Amino acid sequence: MTSTTADPSLPPLWRALRAILFQLDPERAHDVALKALEWPGVTGAISPRVHSANDPVHCMGLEFANRIGLAAGLDKNGDHIDALGALGFGHIEIGTVTPKAQAGNPKPRMFRLVDHEALINRMGFNNKGVAHLVRQAESRQWGGVLGINIGKNASTPNERAADDYIACLDAVWPVADYVTVNISSPNTAGLRDLQHGRVLRELLDAIANRADALSAQHSREVPIMIKIAPDMDDEALADFITAVAERAIAGVIVGNTTQQRDVVAGHRFAAEAGGLSGKPLQALADTRLRAARACLDERQSSACLVGVGGVHNASSAAAKCALGANLVQLYTGFIYGGPALVRDAIEATKNH
Ligand SMILES: Cc1cc2nc3c(=O)[nH]c(=O)nc-3n(C[C@H](O)[C@H](O)[C@H](O)COP(=O)(O)O)c2cc1C
Repeated sequence: MTSTTADPSLPPLWRALRAILFQLDPERAHDVALKALEWPGVTGAISPRVHSANDPVHCMGLEFANRIGLAAGLDKNGDHIDALGALGFGHIEIGTVTPKAQAGNPKPRMFRLVDHEALINRMGFNNKGVAHLVRQAESRQWGGVLGINIGKNASTPNERAADDYIACLDAVWPVADYVTVNISSPNTAGLRDLQHGRVLRELLDAIANRADALSAQHSREVPIMIKIAPDMDDEALADFITAVAERAIAGVIVGNTTQQRDVVAGHRFAAEAGGLSGKPLQALADTRLRAARACLDERQSSACLVGVGGVHNASSAAAKCALGANLVQLYTGFIYGGPALVRDAIEATKNH
């Protein structure tokens, strides 16, 4: 049992729900929990009251009701936007979506490291394809900021990656408040190679050119963010930020899951392939966030910086802002801490 679960201030229904969910295989628990959120009255019963509307944040030309967002990967298809939005998030990032539906990697592909409040996953962009996600986004009622995270199909070689990102960009442009280009998942072979050098610059140019054309076509600006891996070293990060600062890229998300395992060494799932997320990722993610802030400032870039990785309580959320994040996202902490973490993180990052 984690300290968060033992916290008597957690709504009793959430505590009970989590105890049941953690008896299930992690991926099954994920699906059941998202379906349960759709039941009438559940959100209100498990979610503490959030006073989010009085802390608006302006970033990338958008107004966010608060600094806290749901990170990509939890609602890959946009099937639960309204239910998740009711938990108080200022923004929700759906996806990663690819042009065509794909099954992802064979199961099991998600592992719970409860003692560490962590997950290891190698989902591999399982999703229903971009046409489905666009229909879901079109029919949302929730009025918060909707980000759409785009990727490439596993069957598309890196030389043609830009085609997939552009196909997604074309499809989501009318319904997205911002778009995130995901080049940092460890679970699609070769994807992280797109984060470097000439390949990165060519991809960013292709995306920026298409974004210009789509803005004109739809008379609508949609800011573009890029999500990177926390495993980049200082040199790679500096090169990446240089490429971003030279182009019309509105934001950087730092970052995705890590392939490092030292913090969970010895755990029975530590050797599972995939990305590690949650509490053990915090130190690394915070280090990369601080470095990204310094690089952006050196280049006098006004790009929005989003801090993700290891947020599990109020102070870890506040730390992201202290390190220079304009917005903060969470995923694994939400699995362990539930809706109370959303409230705590919103409160802790107010007035930063
Ligand atoms: C099961 C799972 C699936 C994920 N899928 C995606 C994804 O599809 N796209 C993406 O950009 N990030 C994905 N992520 C990464 C998260 O968005 C986030 O960057 C990472 O988990 C670190 O944050 P956390 O420590 O709060 O979980 C996934 C994470 C998990 C745990």
